[in-house]
Amino acid sequence: MPISLTINGTAHEVDLPEDVPLLWVLRDEVGLTGTKFGCGVAACGACTVHIDGEAVRSCQVALSDVWGDVTTIEGVGTPDAMAKIQQAWVDHQVAQCGYCQSGQIMQAAALLAENPSPSDAEIDEAMQGNLCRCGTYPRIRAAIHTAAGKLKEA
Ligand code: FES
Ligand code: FES
Repeated sequence: MPISLTINGTAHEVDLPEDVPLLWVLRDEVGLTGTKFGCGVAACGACTVHIDGEAVRSCQVALSDVWGDVTTIEGVGTPDAMAKIQQAWVDHQVAQCGYCQSGQIMQAAALLAENPSPSDAEIDEAMQGNLCRCGTYPRIRAAIHTAAGKLKEA
């Protein structure tokens, strides 16, 4: 029986086995390829999306276990707060190869929703599960500080 999912505000009926990871559903079934496959074992963060605002590793969430509305990197431009985070990434030219960055932005957005003024240490702790083989960590941290400032102006 198809499983109902809401992704970026749109309802989907997904007719796949219950244990298919959400990452596969997003990329192969729904065609949202901004969320990346990196490790498949919750060790890199490339597949990070939000479920009801919580940052989760979509490679580890089975289709039948999705408990709320899913937001992917393709949905980030819609709410104003997410657009400001995305702009901070552009302003700091954070991306190098870019592969990890959708996961980085989704993790950062969840951090800023919970902690509007994170310190360097709090950023490092929140982001430690999101790996970047290009070593963009200093720019990610700077972009999070800029986004935090912009969000407070709102
Ligand atoms: S692909 Fe999911 S954490 Fe690496
Ligand atoms: S920008 Fe290349 S892996 Fe992070």
